[in-house]
Amino acid sequence: MSHNYLSSNTMKTLTHLDLLTMKQRGEKIACLTAYDASFSGLIDAAGCEVILVGDSLGMVIQGNSTTLPVKVDDMIYHTRCVTKTSKCALVIADLPFMTYATPEFAAQNAVRLIQDGGAQMVKLEGAKIDVIEFLTTQGICVCGHLGLLPQFIHQLGGYKVQGKLAQAAEKLLADALAVQNAGATLLILECVPADLARKITESLTIPVIGIGAGNGCDGQVLVVYDMLGISTGKRPRFSKDFLSDTNSIESALKNYVQAVKSGEFPTVQHSF
Ligand code: KIV
Repeated sequence: MSHNYLSSNTMKTLTHLDLLTMKQRGEKIACLTAYDASFSGLIDAAGCEVILVGDSLGMVIQGNSTTLPVKVDDMIYHTRCVTKTSKCALVIADLPFMTYATPEFAAQNAVRLIQDGGAQMVKLEGAKIDVIEFLTTQGICVCGHLGLLPQFIHQLGGYKVQGKLAQAAEKLLADALAVQNAGATLLILECVPADLARKITESLTIPVIGIGAGNGCDGQVLVVYDMLGISTGKRPRFSKDFLSDTNSIESALKNYVQAVKSGEFPTVQHSF
């Protein structure tokens, strides 16, 4: 499967501008996480426009119960593996826990993800406006991440849907606008009621990629292990096992991309 957006363009690595064009055209963006060269190559070939080297690797690769133990060196190692085989997809790498506490510290760590890992964009959790402004002023592409923030798990007290009450929903919308105004060119919204996620998506000019945020977002992301049913625990409600309906990983990845593009995934069953 070729990338839909690229079918009328020459093959090249996508940028945030291509994602913006997709949003403006109403074309859905497909994203999956990857942590190694083999999956990265397959996900790219399946037609995902974005590959996220998420700090979820702390859980699904390293076996920790949270993402908090992940180090910048871990992210660089896995990002380097991923960027060896990604051809078209834009690669985003997560800044791990406490590696962007100040703008200067964030810049030092983001530079390593870009120079040593080969990432095109870095992602950080929360409305860290001063950090986003500083990074984007230095020419670094930033993806925001709002809603359920796994790096704040101890403060949140569990993996719960965010923005359910009116005041929290208003704050989430205000934070999303602030993240955009600070210079972020992409936003991930995690575990947010579908109506709120749709409202935020419609209020922003930058693309919004959802996970557990309904089908009103500009695109979807899942942890690749979850969508292949590779899990020791319970699969999250917002995920779907795409391997159970087919007989190969390649087909499962292609079916995911197709389901995101057509709007078949996520259904209300995968939303809050
Ligand atoms: O770390 C990760 O994989 C993520 C996604 C769940 C959005 O941040």
